[in-house]
Amino acid sequence: MPGSKDALQVKPFRAPVHAALVHLPLACFSVAAVLDLASWLVSGSDIQFQPAAFWSIAAGVVTALVAALFGFADFISIRQDHPARKQALWHMALNVAAVLIFAASLLLRRGQLDADRTPAAALAATLIGYGALMVSGYIGGHMVYNDGIGVGRHRRRTPLPDRTIERTGVAGEFVAVCRADEMQEGEIRRASIAGTVVALARTGDRFFAVQEFCTHRFGPLSEGCIRDGTVMCPWHRSCFDLKTGTVTDGPAKEALRTFEVEVKDGNVRIRVPVATG
Ligand code: FES
Repeated sequence: MPGSKDALQVKPFRAPVHAALVHLPLACFSVAAVLDLASWLVSGSDIQFQPAAFWSIAAGVVTALVAALFGFADFISIRQDHPARKQALWHMALNVAAVLIFAASLLLRRGQLDADRTPAAALAATLIGYGALMVSGYIGGHMVYNDGIGVGRHRRRTPLPDRTIERTGVAGEFVAVCRADEMQEGEIRRASIAGTVVALARTGDRFFAVQEFCTHRFGPLSEGCIRDGTVMCPWHRSCFDLKTGTVTDGPAKEALRTFEVEVKDGNVRIRVPVATG
């Protein structure tokens, strides 16, 4: 349901909530792992390591479930053909496994909460769950820092393109990409025109096409947003004039390639570019 997805992505505030919330379960599970280990390694202490670890894991499971809700909303926003989608599936699967393993660690202490040492099976579950969490955290970081997943997407007010429109044609001729009235004000679609990937944008009654990948670090401009005749890259907010492709705000230094667009018989058409070496 689009409404619930927007609410979970906290669209009114345009903030990436999942990335902020995951610190809570990570902190709780980290503390629990230390406490469970301490129950075996530290002797003669008055500190009740095991009950503290129990409550830390319980808090971790609860906060992980809350973070997972927001993470799932982010997951379903990743387009089907994005290379990071497979990593996102692994990230989600490992997180689910980790939470189940931590829940098992809680159950394995049943009736033994007063014991000085965490039961061996519960300790093993804690450590295995923590290992799964570390691998999942690494994948999550990779998705954000290397693939730009979740970066800047919360600022977008129109739907993100969920696919690339594929068109073939002869260089120099126009090909129809979509109906003009299908595109909302401020919407950007992604199209592959005879192998050249472009971002097709609508602002007012005008349509513009520019190269899809930002000249700074290759951010996907079809996932950016339009402001005052410019397209803003979702990754580091470089802005480019939609008509000329020139940079109006950094950090990008190089202009975008632009493509000729016309509206004919209600269709938005892009001139098939001549391939550049
Ligand atoms: S990748 Fe576009 S501004 Fe950095």
